[in-house]
Amino acid sequence: MLVSATEMLQKARAGKYAVGQFNINNLEWTKAILLTAQELNSPVILGVSEGAGKYMTGFETVAAMVAAMDKSLGITVPVALHLDHGSYEGCYKCIKAGFTSIMFDGSHFPIDENVAKTTELVNVAHGLGLSIEAEVGAIGGEEDGVIGKGECADPNECKQIADLGVDFLAAGIGNIHGVYPETGEGLSFETLVAINKTGGDMPLVLHGGTGIPDDMITKAISLGVAKINVNTECQLVFAEATRKYIEAGKDQQGKGFDPRKLLAPGFEAIKAKVKEKMELFGSVNKA
Ligand code: 13P
Repeated sequence: MLVSATEMLQKARAGKYAVGQFNINNLEWTKAILLTAQELNSPVILGVSEGAGKYMTGFETVAAMVAAMDKSLGITVPVALHLDHGSYEGCYKCIKAGFTSIMFDGSHFPIDENVAKTTELVNVAHGLGLSIEAEVGAIGGEEDGVIGKGECADPNECKQIADLGVDFLAAGIGNIHGVYPETGEGLSFETLVAINKTGGDMPLVLHGGTGIPDDMITKAISLGVAKINVNTECQLVFAEATRKYIEAGKDQQGKGFDPRKLLAPGFEAIKAKVKEKMELFGSVNKA
């Protein structure tokens, strides 16, 4: 059931669990995530980066595929279709295409411009029943061409942006996109505590979920994180499962080259990874 992400994330924050945002790249990804959410009776957010949207021939294709699949698979758990790290123009394209949620990443603009653009998009999104995420501070690393330095968010800026009426807030707390480096300093829980002091009970978003140790995830949830984004981990398990299938020569046995067979191990690997994360985040049976 396609819905905005507002209610599911408010419930998650109040219930001290988090809803996973899993980024999608194609039909297999989308189907694996939707089926797992339904099987586990969990709310879920499908994240679409601008790069992935382009790859799938545009946001309209994505919205049409997700809406049709949600219906044909009989998905009854809440599903939000969310633009990840949207540009100003990208937000408008997704609103038009039928997304149920957008993220405006204005973190690279001076704060005044970020405020002006966020205010405008909050009004447009809410007028149409969509939820909207904003970002303060920058998530480190690179994702689909979006590069961030990884500085921690300023709690006062978080309050300023939260007060504009955004529904959930991505605050940089030392998290990075991609595999978390062994030399990483870990998450800044002091920053999270400070944001909570100024920002009230706004659901917070943890980007760069890949490779963050489980105990840090659990602690972040206890401090108000209600949405956790995972992308690279699904890509890694998909690639590994596909590689094993080919290295075992299975694509050369019988009709093993059939794409429906070739992509099946990767599909199952994504399902297992999404299940593992939903169990860790505590969203199972919270639909
Ligand atoms: P990872 O690729 O590190 O899991 O990050 C995903 C993300 O934050 C999407 O916005």
